[in-house]
Amino acid sequence: MDTLEKYRRYVNTACVKAVEPVVISHARGARIIDEAGRSYTDLFAGISVVNAGHCNPEVVAAAKAQMDRLVHGCAYVYHIPAVADLAEKLAQVTPGRLQKSFFGSGGAEANEGAMRLAKQFTGRQEFISLTGSFHGRSVGTLSITGNCARKRGGGPFLPGCAYHPAPSCYRCPYAMTYPGCDLHCARELERTIQFGTAGNVAAFVAEPVQGEGGIIVPPPGYFQEIKRVLDRHGILLVVDEVQAGFGRTGRLFAIEHWGVEPDILTMAKGIADGFPLSAFIAREEVADSFRPGDHLSTFGGNPVSCAAALANIAFFEREGLCDQAAAKGTAFMAALRELQAGQPLIGDVRGLGLMVGVELVRDQQKSPASEAAEKVKALMREKGFLIGLGGTYGNVLRLQPPLVIEPADLQLAVAALAECLAEV
Ligand SMILES: Cc1ncc(COP(=O)(O)O)c(C=O)c1O
Repeated sequence: MDTLEKYRRYVNTACVKAVEPVVISHARGARIIDEAGRSYTDLFAGISVVNAGHCNPEVVAAAKAQMDRLVHGCAYVYHIPAVADLAEKLAQVTPGRLQKSFFGSGGAEANEGAMRLAKQFTGRQEFISLTGSFHGRSVGTLSITGNCARKRGGGPFLPGCAYHPAPSCYRCPYAMTYPGCDLHCARELERTIQFGTAGNVAAFVAEPVQGEGGIIVPPPGYFQEIKRVLDRHGILLVVDEVQAGFGRTGRLFAIEHWGVEPDILTMAKGIADGFPLSAFIAREEVADSFRPGDHLSTFGGNPVSCAAALANIAFFEREGLCDQAAAKGTAFMAALRELQAGQPLIGDVRGLGLMVGVELVRDQQKSPASEAAEKVKALMREKGFLIGLGGTYGNVLRLQPPLVIEPADLQLAVAALAECLAEV
C-alpha cells in the first residue's frame, strides 16, 4: 500500500479540503523532493515554519547532539540546561523588558497560556481580538479567533470575547483610506471597549501581521495607537508572533517594526526550524503572577527542540537572516507589483519581508476570485512551486518561503505565477 492509500485509509484528513498530492521524500533549504524524485521550490515552508531552511544542517546537528544526551526530562520537574539557555537567549532577542518564557509545543498552546497569564496578572476575564484573526484550534484560542469558517459547529466558545475590525487597508472596514483615515481603526478600539465588553478586559490579542487572515499588514502607527488606548484602560497587549515571528517579516519579531513593547509575546512555528516548540514570554512581574498549579506542559520545552531553537537563532544571527528576508521580500514584492500592473486578477500585493500575499479578485468591486486562487495553486504545483492559500475568502495566495531561498528562485516563481494567472 502506498502513502496516498495509507493516508486515505488511516489518517483523519476529513478536517481539510484536501492534502496536496505531493509525497515528500526529503527536503533541503527551499527545495522539496517527492518520492518520484521531482523537485519543488517551497514557497510555503510548511506553513511558515522552516524559516532557516529545511533540514538546516546546523539545527539538525544540534538536535542530534542533544538527542545523545537527553530527549525528555520535563522542564517543569527538573532543571534542563537547553531550556535555561534558550530562555536566556529569548530574553535577549525579544523586545523591551520581556524576560521570562514558558515553553509549550505548539502555537495554540502558547496562546492559551498567554490568555491564562493575562487573566492571572490583571484579575480580569475578558479578551478583545481582531476580525479575520487566527490564534489556534483549542477552545480558548478559537474563542478569540475572528473567523466563522474556523469555528463553525465547535461552539459554544468562551464568553467575554469581543472582536474589533482588523486594520485591512485593502478592504477597510470603515471604507476609509490611509493616511487620511488618521488611523480610525485603531482609535475605534475605545468604542469596542466601551460598547463590546463589560469593562473587564484582561488583554487585547493580535497578530502583528495576520497570516491565515490573508497577510494583513497594519498601516504605520497602528500598533502605537492601539497601545495608547490599551494603556488608558490597563489592558495588556498580547502579540501573537506564531506566524509573523522568527524573521519572517524582516525583523526577528514583527512588532519590532513599530517599536511597541508587548506585555506578552507568543511564538512557535519558526522558533526551532521545524522541531515542535512554542513559548510565551512576559515581563518578570507579569510572568510571576502565576501561582503553583496554574500551568504546566509535559512536553513543553523539549530539550531537543530547545537545542534546535538555539542553533536556529545562532544561524539567524550569523547569516543576517532577518535582513535577508527584508531584502528578498522587497525585490519579490516589486516583481509581483510589476506583474499586477498588467494582470487584472491581482487586486493587491502586500506583505512585509517574506510574508507576502497576492489577493486575487474578479472585478473592480474586489469580488474574491477564490476558485481562480485554487486553480493557481494547483497550476503552480504542476510547474514545481508550492504555495499556500489564505484570507477570509480563500483568495489570497500566500508566499512565505524559507528565508534562505535564493533570489533567483523567487524571480522564477514570479514568472511561473504570470503563466498560471494567464491560464486561469
Ligand atoms: C498566528 C497564529 N497563531 C496560532 C496558530 C496556531 O498554531 P499551532 O497550529 O501550532 O497550534 C497559528 C497557526 O497557523 C497562527 O498562524
